[in-house]
Amino acid sequence: MAPVIIDGKKVAAHVKERAAERVAALKARGVEPGLAVILVGDDPASRAYVDMKERDCAQVGIRSIDVRLPADTPQAELEALVDGFNADPAVHGILVQLPLPDGLDAEAVIARIAPEKDVDGFHPVSIGRLVRGLPALHACTPAGVMELLRAYGIDPRGKRAVVVGRSVIVGKPMALLLLQADATVTVCHSKTADLRAVCREADILVAAIGRARMIDASYVKPGAVVIDVGINRTDAGLVGDVDFESVAPIASAITPVPGGVGPMTRAMLMENTVAASEEASR
Ligand code: GUN
Repeated sequence: MAPVIIDGKKVAAHVKERAAERVAALKARGVEPGLAVILVGDDPASRAYVDMKERDCAQVGIRSIDVRLPADTPQAELEALVDGFNADPAVHGILVQLPLPDGLDAEAVIARIAPEKDVDGFHPVSIGRLVRGLPALHACTPAGVMELLRAYGIDPRGKRAVVVGRSVIVGKPMALLLLQADATVTVCHSKTADLRAVCREADILVAAIGRARMIDASYVKPGAVVIDVGINRTDAGLVGDVDFESVAPIASAITPVPGGVGPMTRAMLMENTVAASEEASR
């Protein structure tokens, strides 16, 4: 049977509509949500992401405060900027685009962000609260994957979920969110023995490796839900970590690249910013 093609563009549009309604309710109470976006250096991919985030803010009604700094910005200056946004009641979310240029300590900058404004969900307090099962701002990409599963009625409870990749941005929070949703979760990585066999146990397989089309049909149990977080630039254009042509015929549902997980990350950033604004104005 043909798989369900999970439409991230559609779900992201819905999430943004929902966020826009909440923004309207906040504005009616005199609160204008504000998101500070800091880009250091001129990496073209990062600049493109940041530009898109600004467009999303405009669409949803969030005020975006952009700061673009040269690559040789001193650590102290970047941290002072974060301190200023932490103290500014008109700023509800702070996002420092990663990766930072060489010479800057991203860990220290992230730790500097007030956890209640950590709309990326990368702060140790945000991750720690997630581990403990407490309310927190969750990293946008894994939160977006959970939203896709919800939107398509895929309940992780009792399922075997395998996450390939253990990054702080995706793999680790993804595993924790699936665990919170009562899946039995395995996290795989570059040192995992017999990766193929572990992946074949998955009812829900999440690929977040960063290797173009690595996951082919031999990694996938027939009927599995396959979520492709990969965004790899190749000569053939933008491709995921999943070999869509080979996997789609045996999956029950699958995300395409582009148009799957990608649009969800920015939509969840809007949702996190709205949630932070609501929390601050309670
Ligand atoms: N670089 C790649 N993904 C992300 C993200 O989700 N947030 C930030 N701040 N930087 C990124």
